[in-house]
Amino acid sequence: MANPIKTIGVLTSGGDAPGMNAAIRAVVRSALAYGYRVVGIKRGYAGLLKEEIVEMKSTSVSDIIQRGGTILYTARSMEFMTEEGQQEGAGICKKHGIDAVVVIGGDGSFRGAMALAKHGINTVGIPGTIDLDITCTDYTIGFDTAINTAMEAIDKIRDTSSSHERCSIVEVMGRSAGYIAITCGIATGAENILLPEVYDGDEQALVNRVIASRKAGKAHHLVINAEGVGHSSSMAKRIEAATGVETRATILGYLQRGGSPTCRDRFMATLMGVKAVDVLKAGKENRVIASKHDEIVDFDMAEALAIQKSIPDEWQRTAELMTRH
Ligand code: F6P
Repeated sequence: MANPIKTIGVLTSGGDAPGMNAAIRAVVRSALAYGYRVVGIKRGYAGLLKEEIVEMKSTSVSDIIQRGGTILYTARSMEFMTEEGQQEGAGICKKHGIDAVVVIGGDGSFRGAMALAKHGINTVGIPGTIDLDITCTDYTIGFDTAINTAMEAIDKIRDTSSSHERCSIVEVMGRSAGYIAITCGIATGAENILLPEVYDGDEQALVNRVIASRKAGKAHHLVINAEGVGHSSSMAKRIEAATGVETRATILGYLQRGGSPTCRDRFMATLMGVKAVDVLKAGKENRVIASKHDEIVDFDMAEALAIQKSIPDEWQRTAELMTRH
């Protein structure tokens, strides 16, 4: 078992996600309740290297549970990717008496945590990304807010698309994962859902589908395209040219990452934040918090990063059936 810890650091890293503040709050308040000292590390690993370290009191996290973004800011650090940067980061933790760091972010942020761990700093990861693409967990903080934001936007686009009898391609976030696209595609009744995991680039199939739905009397045609497939604007031009159906592309972009977190995101972030501190209190080292089958659990960080995950077959089968006609 590790030496008893006295001071816990908390940082957010990578793309921000609604609910990160609720996770910070849960870490700070539960750690204080157990008698630990807590410090916030601003701007992720980049801020660590600049010693942007602040004391966190209970009031430091007042009035943030309902706020999107992260009060600790977030950044990506090239310097921390180097061995020297990682050694320096661990040295700064030691200098400030930080025995353990809770890292709220995605897989990339957890790799940074592993680097700190290699240099003797205990770390715990909390999954925070709108993309749902952290392999060891069924849930990531921010996903629910993002899909609801995207769904509302898509419903609005659908209204105007129907009025003008257009085809609309809506691009949602997910650079390498189609979780947002498939969820929103199913929930908005889209005619096509394009996922980076499975899209084969067969645009003729898309064209045929637009023509078929027009023949069937549909006023609109909604294509949900994941960022990882991309090229929505040029795709719209080609579909319009091939079908004669006026086609517009909308890229939803960063609006999906902001906004007040949903109840589910606040709740899950709070459960996960408390679990992260519980894991440290239990003397465990280098863990990742995860939600598995509605339970909050923890995994060894190296093992967690090696787990494979893909969009459930059930989701893909449902999407296929719902978009066939
Ligand atoms: O947070 C995840 C994500 O939204 C991805 O879907 C997207 O590709 C990426 O972040 C973009 O982030 P940034 O532009 O901030 O690097």
